Amino acid sequence: MIRLQATLPERYVNGRAEELATWIGNAKMLLGEKLLILGHHYQRDEVMRWADARGDSLALSRKAAETDKAKFIVFCGVYFMAEAADILTSSDQKVILPDLNAGCSMADMADLDTVEEAWESLRRCTDIEEVTPITYINSSAALKSFVGQHGGSVCTSSNADAVLTWALKKAESEKVLFFPDQHLGRNTAYRLGYNEQNMKVWDPRKEWGGLSEAEIKEATFLLWKGHCSVHQRFTPEHVNQFRTSYPQGLVVVHPECSHEVVALADDSGSTDYIINFIDKAPAMSTIAVGTEIHLVKRLADEYRDKHVMSLDPLVCPCSTMFRIDDAHLAWILEELVDGKVHNQITVDQETAKWAKTALERMLEIV
Ligand code: 13P
Ligand code: SF4
Repeated sequence: MIRLQATLPERYVNGRAEELATWIGNAKMLLGEKLLILGHHYQRDEVMRWADARGDSLALSRKAAETDKAKFIVFCGVYFMAEAADILTSSDQKVILPDLNAGCSMADMADLDTVEEAWESLRRCTDIEEVTPITYINSSAALKSFVGQHGGSVCTSSNADAVLTWALKKAESEKVLFFPDQHLGRNTAYRLGYNEQNMKVWDPRKEWGGLSEAEIKEATFLLWKGHCSVHQRFTPEHVNQFRTSYPQGLVVVHPECSHEVVALADDSGSTDYIINFIDKAPAMSTIAVGTEIHLVKRLADEYRDKHVMSLDPLVCPCSTMFRIDDAHLAWILEELVDGKVHNQITVDQETAKWAKTALERMLEIV
């Protein structure tokens, strides 16, 4: 998808950090209750300090759905999050993404055409009524709409257990097509007591997903071959090295990491879950965290009584989350004060109708 981000005016490109902070603060004050800034945990500090609400994908979706006062919701996160917020808010509320280039490489690994092709292949070799499609929230509105129309649901990293349990309890449902993140799908299936035999990877670049008819029929989970480039960097060697250096240390990772890493960790969960894990850990503990570096650094700063570090000694940022900076935020807010709306994210009505069904199913399940 081509997104045209306007060039940032010189005033913002050249603005010093203190100036940008003053401009953001003033604009925020002038906009008052008309404005709500949402911040995902991976945002940099100079952006996060302005967020009215921080959270993981589920918490921010809920916040967007509950918000009725704010006319402008500035989403400091990535594209799919802003789309979900637009779907869950009313038509007179405007959702804004400060930089349109803030996408998600994992979400781009599944598109509507390839998912529809996969669905048609499945229809030819299995009873399609037995298949429930589940999309991770890290996906386009078009895919959320697809699952809404086909009896499925959205899930996030904090409710994947509940959503997959729901999917397999539905009348006739015997199989889940899970996209786009194979790792969250696999880690969740293991948590629910399934084993490798029950899971097959669906490779969208291959005919029949690269599987035989028997493999498709036997599998309970068909896991789309997608991944997060940030989380796939964490390896079992990282966990082993950390344990050698800190035998008493704790390891907590995001479920977008490979199953080998999750299996060696002490615990795994969404970004909110990771924060809670560190909060509850005993004082003086050493904790290695397998997730995006801005969150890890913030936790290290906030929990000075604990030793919080990245599981990967080389920094591991999400380059698209990093697109949102104080300069873009200042530009968006000052323009709003002048009555100009830039970077509004809108999902067309037909797509939004079914995507909302899928999102609301998720919010009802958990
Ligand atoms: P959370 O829902 O856990 O915040 O995850 C979002 C994400 O994109 C992780 O890479
Ligand atoms: Fe997407 Fe990975 Fe960045 Fe999360 S960390 S937004 S999954 S690229």
